Amino acid sequence: MPSTPSRHFPRRTAATRRRLAGGATVVMALGLGMAPTTAHADDAQLPTLVKTENIRSHMENLQTIAEYNGGNRASAEPGYDIAAKYVIDQLERAGYTPEKHTYEYDNWNENSPAVLAQTAPEERGFTLEDDFVTMAYSGAGDTTAPGIAVNAETDESGCSADDFSGFPEGAIAIVQRGTCTFTEKTQNAADAGAAGTVIFNNEPGPLLGTVGEESAIPVVGATEEVGAELLAAGDDLELRLSVDSEVVTKSSYSIIAESKGGAKDNVVVVGAHLDGVPDGPGVNDNGSGTAAVLETAKQFAELGAPNNKLRFAFWGTEEEGLVGSTKYVEGLSQKEIDRIALYLNFDMIGSHNFGRFVYDGRGELDGSLPPPAGSAAIQKLFEDYFESQGLVSEPTEFSGRSDYSAFMEAGIASGGLFSGADGVKTEEQVEYYGGTAGEQYDPYYHTPEDTIDKIDWDSVEDLSNGMAYAVEAYADSTLPVNGVLRTHQTQEFVADRLGDLWLR
Ligand code: BES
Ligand code: ZN
Repeated sequence: MPSTPSRHFPRRTAATRRRLAGGATVVMALGLGMAPTTAHADDAQLPTLVKTENIRSHMENLQTIAEYNGGNRASAEPGYDIAAKYVIDQLERAGYTPEKHTYEYDNWNENSPAVLAQTAPEERGFTLEDDFVTMAYSGAGDTTAPGIAVNAETDESGCSADDFSGFPEGAIAIVQRGTCTFTEKTQNAADAGAAGTVIFNNEPGPLLGTVGEESAIPVVGATEEVGAELLAAGDDLELRLSVDSEVVTKSSYSIIAESKGGAKDNVVVVGAHLDGVPDGPGVNDNGSGTAAVLETAKQFAELGAPNNKLRFAFWGTEEEGLVGSTKYVEGLSQKEIDRIALYLNFDMIGSHNFGRFVYDGRGELDGSLPPPAGSAAIQKLFEDYFESQGLVSEPTEFSGRSDYSAFMEAGIASGGLFSGADGVKTEEQVEYYGGTAGEQYDPYYHTPEDTIDKIDWDSVEDLSNGMAYAVEAYADSTLPVNGVLRTHQTQEFVADRLGDLWLR
């Protein structure tokens, strides 16, 4: 694996000239007959039909819907339902028959702020956020009891039942972060009769974490400094730990619309999450992906019948754990999974300080999920498209932070585009995309200021063109991704190289 990511330069740059020097374009006709296909970027119709001004209108409308419905489009909130109605109405007007894919999910929340305080040997309070935070999915409880360190000098602290031998029933366990999960430490403490757990960090900063599913006892993450103070307090340490949380079962849905034509057994799924965080209107995250997929679906309906079926998905509850897409994939039979040729994801395509990022289908980057076979071919299609347009692109991790995760886990080839979120732009990237070095790609990510005026429209234009190109290309043929060549169709394929030799 290369240690540096492969940047993709447009033809105009010196680097690309060197790499591609001295060859003519070779066109190989595969399959039967000679009818032209959309393998050439210049022949594609959809990038021209999908207009940035129309995508912009959808984004404005999503912002308006959020503004008048509590300021957001968060899952199971009114803004989500109205945004869903908008998407459904737009799709119906374009001739689709969208369906809701409904699911239930557990939503954890706190009704009042958590408390961690030392009540003996002397009293002292700890400050929420600065000194400690509630672990997501902490159980509820309010206990004042002895604080007992559990093998807390090591990072294996609390990972084995033996650590708790002689642990007094009803006490609060103090454990250090490390070796095993927060869930395991908390479960071991609960099994030993603890009434609560404080897990302290083994590095500076707050310990934001989750115990995955609701724990039997309250659990907070504390800083390294708080941990040191608790360990130094001696045998008479007594703590109050209070978490006022509950898990509520909620219901929400994704929206799925299929093209009328195209092979049912070779489906191209194109998805964007429609929900946003509760803190703002989510115009970039992910009004941008939603708007572009919606406009692509609308314009796609204007083209002739495709070879392959397109399935457009607007996922719900992404921001609470990729719920809509995961429930959808979990609900598919193996046969239905096998009929999906590939999945394309679009989550944030108009970031203020954008990059043109293509998901790492080759699996070159540290921190990428293992890409199913065919994902590298998707990456190449996007890279080649940008290159043909004179635009630089770069690979970005399949980090597991968006809706491709469930598809990849099911072995479905995946890809897509992303303009950046909480990563920081480098000097080098300023040369490729403009913008500001040292700043986040999206400084407004998950904030109330994720609004229409922060969107970079060149980013929306470039990435939505890439989306439209990929949709048109894969509607025609998924040959390089899954080997499917429908017999009545023709494939013309532009090759870049013969064996190891570059041709252009
Ligand atoms: N749009 C983001 C995805 C994202 C953010 C990708 C930052 C890469 C970097 C997405 O909506 C999001 O915020 N996802 C959550 C994870 C999810 C499992 C709740 C996140 O990354 O915190
Ligand atoms: Zn998102």
